[in-house]
Amino acid sequence: MTILLPFLIFFAILLNYWLVPGGFAWRSHHQSHPKLRGPCGWPILGTLPDQMGALAHRKLAAMAASHCAARLMAFSLGNTRAVISSHPETAKEILCGSSFSDRPIKVSARLLMFERAIGFAPSGKYWRHLRRIAANYMFSPRRISSLETLRQRVADEMLEGVWKEREERGVVELRGIFQRGSLSNILESVFGSCLDLERAELGNMVREGYDLIANFNWEDYLPLRFLDFYGVKRKCHRLSGKVKNVVGQMVRERKRAGEFSGGNDFLSALLSLPTEDQLNDSDMVAVLWEMIFRGTDTISVLLEWIMARMVLHQDIQTKVQEELDKCVGNHRHVQDSDLPNLPYLQAVVKEVLRMHPPGPLLSWARLAVHDVHVGKVLVPAGTTAMVNMWAITHDPSIWKDPWTFNPERFIDEDVSIMGSDLRLAPFGSGRRVCPGKALGLATVHLWLGRLLHQFRWLPAQHVDLSECLKLSLEMKTPLACRVVRRCSGMSF
Ligand code: HEM
Repeated sequence: MTILLPFLIFFAILLNYWLVPGGFAWRSHHQSHPKLRGPCGWPILGTLPDQMGALAHRKLAAMAASHCAARLMAFSLGNTRAVISSHPETAKEILCGSSFSDRPIKVSARLLMFERAIGFAPSGKYWRHLRRIAANYMFSPRRISSLETLRQRVADEMLEGVWKEREERGVVELRGIFQRGSLSNILESVFGSCLDLERAELGNMVREGYDLIANFNWEDYLPLRFLDFYGVKRKCHRLSGKVKNVVGQMVRERKRAGEFSGGNDFLSALLSLPTEDQLNDSDMVAVLWEMIFRGTDTISVLLEWIMARMVLHQDIQTKVQEELDKCVGNHRHVQDSDLPNLPYLQAVVKEVLRMHPPGPLLSWARLAVHDVHVGKVLVPAGTTAMVNMWAITHDPSIWKDPWTFNPERFIDEDVSIMGSDLRLAPFGSGRRVCPGKALGLATVHLWLGRLLHQFRWLPAQHVDLSECLKLSLEMKTPLACRVVRRCSGMSF
């Protein structure tokens, strides 16, 4: 008994710390937060993302429902306090107020220089400066429309790729085609032109970066920052060295050439900023690298989901094609200027963003910069706050028949997806809303129009809609289709 006693006392203390709503990380807060709801999780470990695996958004939604905590659920990520909202009102409080204007930064993101780029820079003077540069020079309506020629050329290349794969294999796997197309598009938007060698090198670096950031890392959630369990820090150091080399070299070469005022790309835009707005070389490398990183997979992942839905719902595909034929005819290609006259195509994109948001947990979380009330719950400074957009867009009290793919719902009701309506905010909302949203949508709308105008898309096998959450929410099984040419008189 004397041997057992210390163990029993230790166990009782552990239970006392652990068995509180929200779990271990909330141990010293639960008494002053009587409204708190959430799972206890495991002692010390809490409710870690790797236990939730590739369907974390669904598991968190189910957990919130079972704890009657859709508005705000507390949980523990190791010893990090976290809250998650699955309700538009509390989501708005988190995303749109000034209290959650920073992001918690993972070790890998810091080492990969994202702290000096828009996504993870703390919300001070430097971040505001970057947001202003992005809004005025990189994603201005003028810049987006002047990049249409590039988007059209990449669409031609993708359509040629589709036809070639059809001739060679009979079946077309779209994932590789979309990934190459999105990468080319963003690289040329960023640098103007890019050698094949640089393109291949940057493509590999982006893929390596996705793995390092998406991977679960104990050091992010427990006080173990001095360790490097999975070699993530070592790999990040190596990768950021390569990024500085390759992107830095491209910046230096362009500066040496001294030709940037007439360029249409982001690098030219940054180099021709007024002197007082200029960034130093290493910050420029971080900003450009982030653009490549963020602008590649979001677009290709979303397009693959859209095409999966088009293959699955042949009647809806026919309706989009009828709209295209009526608006564009079959003697020319779809252009940006046609898009306002294609409401059904836009409704299809909205419905896919509702059912398969590329960032179901809005990708990157927010951080409470001071103590703040969300609804009736007091959230202490330093808490990580997330929004489960997937749960909101599948909530039957918000959406009629949420599991049915029905673009018509957006013809009946005009719902903005740009962040003002938290029932459907796939690009986030508030001051940290996605700055690339207009460019992303312009690209997806145009490429979808071109793909559906040129070809009829048919299933090559069962369309598997299983999901896999990595950095974005991907299709678990790549989509394979058969294609039939529609506009036979037109070249790609
Ligand atoms: C379908 C395409 C896209 C989707 C669904 C998407 C989604 C998102 C989401 C959910 C956020 C977090 C917003 C928040 O915290 O409220 C975000 C942030 C961001 N996105 Fe996008 N994005 C897309 C395309 C792009 C593109 C094309 C770029 C750039 C080329 C880009 C650059 C960024 C950056 C830099 C941030 C960080 C903003 C900040 O923290 O101030 N995104 N995006």
